[in-house]
Amino acid sequence: MSSVNDIRRTYVDYFANQGHHIVPSAPLVPENDPTLMFTNSGMVQFKNLFTGVEKRSYTRAVSAQKCVRAGGKHNDLDNVGMTARHLTFFEMLGNFSFGDYFKEQAITMAWDLITNVLEIPAEKLLVTVYHEDDEAFDLWKKIANLPDERIIRIATDDNFWSAGDTGPCGPSSEIFFDYGDHIWGGPPGSPEEDGDRFIEIWNLVFTQFDQKGDGKRLILPNPCVDTGMGLERISALLQGTNNVFETDMFKTLVDASAQVTGSITNEDNIVSQRVIADHLRTMSFLIAEGVLPSNEGRGYVLRRIMRRAMRHATLLGRNEPAIYKMLPVLIQEMGQAYPELVHGEAMIGETIRLEEGRFLKTLSRGLQILNDTSANLNAGDQLDGQTAFKLYDTYGFPLDLTEDALRTREISVDHAGFDSAMQAQKAAARASWRGSGATADESIWFGVSENMSPSEFLGYDRQKSEGEVLALVKDGVEVKRLGVGETGFVVLNQTPFYAQSGGQVGDIGTLTGENVAAKITDTQKRPGGLIAHAIEITSGELVLGVGVELEVDDRNRSAIRANHSATHLLHEALRQVLGEHVAQKGSLVSADRLRFDFSHNKPLSAEEIVQIEALANGIVLQNGPVETRLMGVDEARAAGAMALFGEKYGEEVRVVSMGTSKNDDGTDRHYSMELCGGTHAKRTGDIGLIRIVSESSVASGVRRIEALSGSGARAYLTIQDEQLKSVASVLKSTTSDALFRVQSLLDERKSLERQ
Ligand code: SER
Repeated sequence: MSSVNDIRRTYVDYFANQGHHIVPSAPLVPENDPTLMFTNSGMVQFKNLFTGVEKRSYTRAVSAQKCVRAGGKHNDLDNVGMTARHLTFFEMLGNFSFGDYFKEQAITMAWDLITNVLEIPAEKLLVTVYHEDDEAFDLWKKIANLPDERIIRIATDDNFWSAGDTGPCGPSSEIFFDYGDHIWGGPPGSPEEDGDRFIEIWNLVFTQFDQKGDGKRLILPNPCVDTGMGLERISALLQGTNNVFETDMFKTLVDASAQVTGSITNEDNIVSQRVIADHLRTMSFLIAEGVLPSNEGRGYVLRRIMRRAMRHATLLGRNEPAIYKMLPVLIQEMGQAYPELVHGEAMIGETIRLEEGRFLKTLSRGLQILNDTSANLNAGDQLDGQTAFKLYDTYGFPLDLTEDALRTREISVDHAGFDSAMQAQKAAARASWRGSGATADESIWFGVSENMSPSEFLGYDRQKSEGEVLALVKDGVEVKRLGVGETGFVVLNQTPFYAQSGGQVGDIGTLTGENVAAKITDTQKRPGGLIAHAIEITSGELVLGVGVELEVDDRNRSAIRANHSATHLLHEALRQVLGEHVAQKGSLVSADRLRFDFSHNKPLSAEEIVQIEALANGIVLQNGPVETRLMGVDEARAAGAMALFGEKYGEEVRVVSMGTSKNDDGTDRHYSMELCGGTHAKRTGDIGLIRIVSESSVASGVRRIEALSGSGARAYLTIQDEQLKSVASVLKSTTSDALFRVQSLLDERKSLERQ
């Protein structure tokens, strides 16, 4: 029997032999599509190749793409565990043609692979075509010799594919496998099509159009091919089952979920065990990419998935963190194909364990409230929105978790009531804010943020992304467009630009789109979690609703990263040289310098400065990785992370660690470990060099140092060196003798004066 890993390889090898370029899986957080929450199919990373905007050295590609369908247009979340084939995370095998071959060759290769290489009996296969696509119909007849009744015409969206509401799309043709009449279900297009008897195994999309946001559908100059075969489904078929959870990989994961929850596998438990197995993959892959559980955007989808899995673990009788213990099993199954799991193991495990701990604290209380309030409800009834909101707000129950918990009793939730409870809470927050006497400029932002989710910051992991323009503000008023030469603020759904905070300045860079080019001159936080980019339009015009490319100025950001990491190293070095009383009183991290204010009651001696620089530069030379983790505040403090006294932190904090040094007992510890939301160097070596350039007093008991790092520090030293050389040349001496020369000149002058 071929394993899931073998089948992935067979597919990729087949198309590589047919001249396809092997392209690695793209990240789950799409790099080139602002409208998509997660990569939901193999074609996402090729979007611009289909439309012809981008060209590459190849016109045929094959990939195994990690996909998540848990929100947006393609959402399989509610079905997971209930059916034989739905997953939130899956791998999509696909072959692609970018204006190279079209329908005929796509069908020929698909049929060859399925019937000859994978040896699936032809008589058990049937296909669908889009009802208007006679060409595909005739090709299936010719190539596969299929009788008319096994080529089914479908008039619905099922046979017209697009990743999102806009972008490349076209008619599709799907291949189905008939598992036989012992399983309930009917062929595609029949009333029983949702059963598990006929399962779609491969979708061939003939990408001919580009759907625009205004409803227009453009014809692509070179028609393309985009195919997608779910690895889990084809593996099930080849392994003699119709259930993806019975493949070798999922069996191992389901067994692991039984083991960590201490439950047996029986009819009562299997759904929960399968949900956990599926959700473990989704959460692990997302966390590996730097998505962390939060209350907004992708982080919130992740949190929903994690908490859903956790509730199922409690259904299996487990009330302690457990799911994180399955990670080594997942890595053993998938780590070879996806090394990001191996690299991220510690971080993924810790993030899951913490979220489990956090949620379990409120879960049982919340479930009790849910049980009490729903005790008198019967099938067909609705839980009131107020209770659902209280569970959400106070006990951390995402709405779909509440729904999931009530589903088996056929009780639904009053969504409208939930939304109005949420609105009421926002209104209360606004009312209390109005009283705070904030400026008019800020009040506009309150209005802007009202109908908008907080902006999602992508800039820890990337400096380029697309974003959708959600709001434009000029002179304190919302506008629909900004023309050339105009300045204002733009808010997008997501951005790689860091908004000024914690001493680190806002990013600068560029924004470009089909009809616009602009400079981003600063980035600032605004109420409601919005990230506002100060913008100056250099050509064209920026209008609401469009997708644009955002790119952070790399040189500027790299210098900021280096200076921020240098600040952490200097902070620790100051404590080691001057004493534990040193505490941060303020800081400024910009691209050209860093400033650090700290408590200390006398000037630093030259010798102390030399020592501090030597310690910090020692860690630079270690060139170890700068590690970032998400932790609970108390836990971070317990681990020894430096936090600012009196600073308000959220429930979760980022902890940045770098360098190694020794504990008293000879064991290793991080040299520096601080709570910090800023952006940092990847390795300490990226800092290059740290140089303190000034030391002064700012207030009684507070000293300030200013320092440079990287090329800034090098340029500074070059100038110093040049100056010394000029002095030496005027003195007609060498640099090493210059001091002696000056001293003797002064002595000479003194003695002449005396004479
Ligand atoms: N994009 C199509 C799908 O996801 C084929 O790859 O089904």
